[in-house]
Amino acid sequence: MVSRVIPVDPFDLVIFGATGDLAQRKILPALFRRFCAGQIPEGTLIIGAARSGLSSAEFREVLAQNLQHVLDPEICSPAQLAGFLQIVSYVPLDGKTETGWGALCEILCGGQAGAAADRVQVFYFSVGPALFGPLAERLHSYGLTNATTRIVVEKPFGHDRASARALNQTLASHFDEGQIYRIDHYLGKETVQNLMAVRFGNMLFEPLWNSQYVDHIQITVAETVGVLGREDYYERSGAMRDMMQNHLMQLLCLIAMEPPAKFDPDAVRDEKLKVIRALDPVEPYHIVRGQYASPQQAGNEDVNYRETVGNQRSSTESYIALKAHISNWRWAGTPFYLRTGKRLKARSSVINVMFKDAPHSIFGEEAGRHANHLKIRLQPNEGITLSVTYQGARTGGDAPDGCAA
Ligand code: BG6
Repeated sequence: MVSRVIPVDPFDLVIFGATGDLAQRKILPALFRRFCAGQIPEGTLIIGAARSGLSSAEFREVLAQNLQHVLDPEICSPAQLAGFLQIVSYVPLDGKTETGWGALCEILCGGQAGAAADRVQVFYFSVGPALFGPLAERLHSYGLTNATTRIVVEKPFGHDRASARALNQTLASHFDEGQIYRIDHYLGKETVQNLMAVRFGNMLFEPLWNSQYVDHIQITVAETVGVLGREDYYERSGAMRDMMQNHLMQLLCLIAMEPPAKFDPDAVRDEKLKVIRALDPVEPYHIVRGQYASPQQAGNEDVNYRETVGNQRSSTESYIALKAHISNWRWAGTPFYLRTGKRLKARSSVINVMFKDAPHSIFGEEAGRHANHLKIRLQPNEGITLSVTYQGARTGGDAPDGCAA
């Protein structure tokens, strides 16, 4: 599957927390790429909102600087950047007080956007969960919501089960379920979307996709970046809440779920839920937690987790690995190894499906066993490699060209 440009009508998108890491590093660059791909129609408004007292011109300057790395002669030109900046404006606003809400109303309900009843208005909550409730309440009290309103939230969605439920209730008291978009940006990656196509668009793998043939599955998301710039957030989250319970769980679901009856959001969600319900509680001795630290390089930026967060006693994990079991007919007995960490040697998101050995080696035990191995590289160098046994393997030689698909 390749990404498509789905035509949409002009819309308004308000990004709360527009000066923060998520907005600057992910959301706005992604919107810019969509703009370059022709996905964002004329008449659309993107409104950044945050507490910093910037003017629209100053915000655009910061943004232009941040988007330089997205410029690519084949995809996004400087002229397109200028065009994109024209649809972006900024409102200094405080989610917890009344500051700035009048100005936002003026843009959304008054002149610029017009108040067409069917114009989609999206509010992206790119802020901590403590602000979800206050933002939802003010959107309502300022009359900024109607049937075409959507809100977008990302993790962290609460801190534990009770706080996640409380947040759900808060949002549900202001919006219908269909208006609430809970985003996991991993699902927007083309290669992640392609996992479904690999599994359910081909006959090749599905008959083997079970504990009878699969020895184990490894899901690895290794990052080279550290936590610099996000110390407060990360100290409270750690790798478990930042990556494992969301991005890696989504990958696990896509790899392990049954085929949905159709490619439809609810059908896919239902199948993923079945995987999560079938997950056994992870045994504490099947979990490894770690922190990055490089004593040799002490003093360098962001090489020692504890130094970076300014807490020599921090026990927050920047690395986590665990072994999970899915208790259902398909997967009983096949372990899933999930691991993720920051400041690792290389950036690599990869899923390894390790097939079982052939039941008997006709080449004799001394030839060793060479189980098949499907490697799905999500980033970088996206692609799929299937390793098959070949004569050279028995003598320990490298796979000749053509032996890997
Ligand atoms: C975010 C995490 O959700 O995902 C970050 O908060 C992490 O800590 C990021 O760096 C990884 O996403 P990507 O798309 O860069 O692999």
